[in-house]
Amino acid sequence: MDGTLLVNCALSALGGFLSYRMIKEFIPIFLQRGMHGNDQCKVSNDKVPEPLGVVTAAVYLIIMFLFIPFPFFQWTTSEIDKFPHEKFLAFLSGLISVCTAILLGFGDDVLDLRWRHKLMFPTLSSLPVLMVYYVTNRSTSVIVPKYFHFLLGQQIDIGPLYYIYMGMMVVFCTNAINILAGINGLEAGQSVVIAISVAIFNIVQLIRLESQDWYHYLSLYFLLPFIATTVVLFYFNWYPARVFVGDTFCYWSGMTLAVVCILGHFSKTMALFLVPQVFNFLYSIPQLFHLVPCPRHRLPKFDPKTNTVGMSMSVFKSRELKPLGQFCLAVFQTFGLLHRREFERDGEMWTEVNNLTLINLCLKLFGSMHERSLTILLLSIQAFCSCVAFFIRFYMASLVYDV
Ligand code: UD1
Ligand code: MG
Repeated sequence: MDGTLLVNCALSALGGFLSYRMIKEFIPIFLQRGMHGNDQCKVSNDKVPEPLGVVTAAVYLIIMFLFIPFPFFQWTTSEIDKFPHEKFLAFLSGLISVCTAILLGFGDDVLDLRWRHKLMFPTLSSLPVLMVYYVTNRSTSVIVPKYFHFLLGQQIDIGPLYYIYMGMMVVFCTNAINILAGINGLEAGQSVVIAISVAIFNIVQLIRLESQDWYHYLSLYFLLPFIATTVVLFYFNWYPARVFVGDTFCYWSGMTLAVVCILGHFSKTMALFLVPQVFNFLYSIPQLFHLVPCPRHRLPKFDPKTNTVGMSMSVFKSRELKPLGQFCLAVFQTFGLLHRREFERDGEMWTEVNNLTLINLCLKLFGSMHERSLTILLLSIQAFCSCVAFFIRFYMASLVYDV
């Protein structure tokens, strides 16, 4: 095994240990400072400290900063003139983007930012990574499926569109985890499943291709400390949650995944691992763009009598529904993806639909269930999608592409 990777593993283990100690230490401090949330799916009204993601993010940054010299150590003792500045730049630009995402997340936790900020800041955060990609790599070519070689050649250069795609990937990733959230263990759990899947993908590529492709190592350098610190956060966030991860965690996690796939040159493969998040985003669009009324919280509704969670609803006057919203709901209804009820109250027609999230859709399909079972179900779907992603990437891709 590569020596630098061993150091990274050791530092990751240290990161996991530090996270455990620091979360325990900071729980009372958060409560004392009034930094807590209300667990909306519990009978008790206990205060749950939030956002503890900032503690693990801080540990992650410490670990990453300590790790900086190691991948470049050999060039500091000899051959200094051959120092790989490009690789060093890639590493540092990734860290800048991750730092800004943590800052944005903490800002959101403290100030409850508006959607325009949530879209604008990640776009700006992507610039360091994209700039470095531009000055060091510049490849904006996409491999053409072999059946179309005769028409388009082996590769087509899509130029600036490639940068737009990567920028959108960053904005998507930073928000994707945050909108698939609201039940104990889900935010941290899905991140762990995706990060482990991507780490396995990198390891398989290194073994399979017997290549010493530095970019797969770079991904692992970012991912292993992330996995170690997040597993600990997941442990504390598991049902019944002792801590909430907060937006700090969601943005940090999303940005880390975006950075590794851009620097590792596998952003299309990453999209395969994010299928549940992509589906949740597409399904959410009518509410995110206010075509259908969107309440402040879309997390499932707790029923104290049965100690289960069920679909949460958006209820509005039928005439308030915009035509485009009406159209989206009709499409979802056609495919059996929507609970919809019309009723009359005070001489007016009202409409009730489930909040448009993957979590509520699962509750529609499988019925109300215990919160822990729901988290297990959603994490199983995530893991299943990872298996399908591996199958597509390693088996189907060779049928379509020359890989
Ligand atoms: C996003 C979602 C929102 C969802 C919320 C839950 C969108 C557009 N926004 O909003 O629908 O309700 O996340 O995280 O999809 N909470 C729990 N149990 C948990 C985790 C969170 O009850 O396991 C509650 C707590 O009250 C916590 C709050 O959710 O304080 C955190 O919500 P916040 O992260 O501020 O919501 P948003 O990210 O704005
Ligand atoms: Mg949130």
